[in-house]
Amino acid sequence: MKTFASLSLFSLIASEAHAHYIFSHLILNGEVTPEFKYVRDVVVEPGFNYAENDIKGKFRPNENFDSEAMACGREAARFAATTQTADVIAGQEIGFRLSKQMEGTTFDQIFHDGPAQAYLARAPNEDLVHFNGTDGKWFKIASITTAHDTTPNPDFWITYRKNTVNFIIPKATPPGKYLLRIEHFMDPQFYVSCAHVNIIGEGGGHIPADYPYATFPGTYKYDDPAIHLDWSIWNKPGALLKYVGPGPAVWTGETVKRGVEFKA
Ligand SMILES: *[C@@H]1O[C@H](CO)[C@@H](O)[C@H](O)[C@H]1NC(C)=O
Repeated sequence: MKTFASLSLFSLIASEAHAHYIFSHLILNGEVTPEFKYVRDVVVEPGFNYAENDIKGKFRPNENFDSEAMACGREAARFAATTQTADVIAGQEIGFRLSKQMEGTTFDQIFHDGPAQAYLARAPNEDLVHFNGTDGKWFKIASITTAHDTTPNPDFWITYRKNTVNFIIPKATPPGKYLLRIEHFMDPQFYVSCAHVNIIGEGGGHIPADYPYATFPGTYKYDDPAIHLDWSIWNKPGALLKYVGPGPAVWTGETVKRGVEFKA
């Protein structure tokens, strides 16, 4: 039987060849939308020999926890004015897909252990163009971590080797314009993208006054035990099933006080 350690080591060895990617497509009503239509574009990693629009240069993860890139990706604010805003009905499933330019190759896979999480931050004054997310109050709406698989694999990361991440926009999310942030990471590589969404619905959701909103950069630190994983702990059989992603709790809208809207 493959152990977590060997799985993880395998990922590390494979990482040079396979393990970079970008969430460049929003999935809306089950359809993969065009690349960087609703998702903010990013710049190529400086110092790498790629053309300005070469998707491979945009794949590269952010490893600097203090960088503004932790919000929406490398210099994503530059693309705020050219990103379109997707109408999304609260309560529906939405998702992100890796760049289809790599379809059919091993770059079209999340070839990494680690969780995927999604956050929302309301745009002040409903103005997404001037909202870069670094001053956002982010609340978490999804955390896709591990699951138990019977045979032949042990417990595993749900997104491993997938090319899409899907989740629900909580039904009670107050209507308005938001940045929708997706992240997937493997210690310490962060793959982050943001979409512009206009959430439509009944709303009514209330986020508790003491909810510890995340900031990006800010909330995540490299020595967070949910980020820098100690494999001597997580490697034990069953341990990985108890993994909880970094950042605040997931807000599902289920504990809402109807009629009370929060102000983001
Ligand atoms: C993002 O917004 C903050 C607050 O308005 C500002 O201080 C910062 O310079 C902005 N960064 C970029 C890259 O636009």
